[in-house]
Amino acid sequence: MTKKRYTVTSALPYANGPLHIGHIAGAYLPADIYVRYRKSKQDDVLFVCGSDEHGAAITLRAKKEGLSPQEIVDTYHQLNKQSFADFGINFDIYYRTSDPLHHQTAKEFFEVLHEKGVFTETVSQQFFDEEHKQFLADRYIVGTCPKCGNDNAYGDQCEKCGSALSPNELINPKSTLSGNEPVMKETKHWYLPMQEHEDWLRDWIENGVFNGKQRHNPKHWRSQVIGQCKSWIDGGLRERAMTRDLDWGVKVPIEGADGKVLYVWLDAPIGYISATKQWALDNNKNWQDYWQNDAELIHFIGKDNIVFHAIIFPIILKAHGDFVLPTNVPANEFLNLEGQKLSTSRNWAIWLHDYLKDFEGQQDVLRYALCSTAPESKDTDFAWADFQTRNNSELVGIFGNFINRVVVLTNKYWDGHIPAKGNLTSYDEEVLAELSNCADKVGQLIENYKLREALSGVINLARLGNKYLADTEPWKLKKTDEKRTQTILNIALQIAAHLSVFSEPFLPFTAHKLSDMLNIEQGRWDKVKELQSGHKINGANLLFTKIEDEVIDQQLSKLKA
Ligand code: MF3
Ligand code: ZN
Repeated sequence: MTKKRYTVTSALPYANGPLHIGHIAGAYLPADIYVRYRKSKQDDVLFVCGSDEHGAAITLRAKKEGLSPQEIVDTYHQLNKQSFADFGINFDIYYRTSDPLHHQTAKEFFEVLHEKGVFTETVSQQFFDEEHKQFLADRYIVGTCPKCGNDNAYGDQCEKCGSALSPNELINPKSTLSGNEPVMKETKHWYLPMQEHEDWLRDWIENGVFNGKQRHNPKHWRSQVIGQCKSWIDGGLRERAMTRDLDWGVKVPIEGADGKVLYVWLDAPIGYISATKQWALDNNKNWQDYWQNDAELIHFIGKDNIVFHAIIFPIILKAHGDFVLPTNVPANEFLNLEGQKLSTSRNWAIWLHDYLKDFEGQQDVLRYALCSTAPESKDTDFAWADFQTRNNSELVGIFGNFINRVVVLTNKYWDGHIPAKGNLTSYDEEVLAELSNCADKVGQLIENYKLREALSGVINLARLGNKYLADTEPWKLKKTDEKRTQTILNIALQIAAHLSVFSEPFLPFTAHKLSDMLNIEQGRWDKVKELQSGHKINGANLLFTKIEDEVIDQQLSKLKA
């Protein structure tokens, strides 16, 4: 049997601004944890991401800053790529959709769909700004949301109530270019008639069946993802234009389509494929292996991206043929900040590059805090006070404290040499049994995208270690019962070695420090090696440090400034 392959994607962030903790908690950290876990098991997994550089999100930003779209994407592509790397998000490739290979891939994709007759061509009336002589992309039109009354709804979506909209549903539409009421003008576009795909989509989403084959167990999909898809399908799928009148993007590769580009939501997901192609070229691999046959495709996204990854992109992949559909789309809900919605425009956010500057070398603290409060099934809140508590009582108080005690005692009593294990008590056996269960228990949780619970499982192991030491008090036995002391420390050291493996997906910087302290190679998830007696470990080196109130107060005032 050939080895299973996993293609893991994180939503390509628009290169129109820096990344904040909401992005990280939604689509990047969870994917990174999942991928690190699979790599630790030596699974064949590819992790792709990159900048989404087209669409009105980019041109609007450029206009606002008085720069060209190219300048905008160049700036933020570099910044975001660097922030991800510094934060330990370990993509195999961080690509960008302005790359010529992507333009070529997306054009070919469109041509195949066009030749297969997947699109319908329709001339229709669209909003046009007379002053700027330009058709208005959905995002360039604002108005009142027909569903909730929000006055600042965009032509494609109301960000207040989350409804997907089309521009002609808006009440009192205005052009964001001139502020004028737009006029209607004729233009031709290529549409994807999604309604024709309803039957197989329903079978795939509700039952996990595709092309007569059971592709996944729908019980493994998050209920909110299935719920959103069903409500879309139940509400009636419609045609959606796959081209736009815009001069920034992938040119529509057909005659008579001058001045038109691919819809960014057609172009960007194809970016996952282009990224795979580039990675394959760079690494002497075959890209198709990661998109065909039994490959498992997993899209990590935020909830505002569900319809694009679980309905539109699958339709496109199926219509093209020769592609797998996603095995899962583990979308997260939103993360709030100090009780309020994150907002880029109001600067209500914690920017990743700022955090990395203010908390140098403390990437894992944020990774820990974000994973512990990950919005896996409902919106959650990030609060600085909670961040501090998690660091001080869990990372310093439990994890760091346990490791420090074990390493200090081993160095003090045996000059850093691991003592041998003697006779075991039933308590020892209990602890060892729990230890050997941990790989499967935590692994299963990760495979089911329950990363919060998985992380608790890891911390509970450190907690177990602490409790074991507190209960057995080896420091009191050293003079009277050397053998017993050795057994206890040996067991505690085995717990530490397991922690260096199981913490790696979540806290990679810490895990590597810990392996170094134990003087071992970074271990494999499914084959954690027992530390041999006589092996010499290194001296103690603090894994975490206490975060003082001043530091938290500073962050709070920075936020409120
Ligand atoms: N840029 C989009 C956003 O930030 C996500 C694109 S995901 C992809 O919402 F599938 F299109 F790549
Ligand atoms: Zn609304």
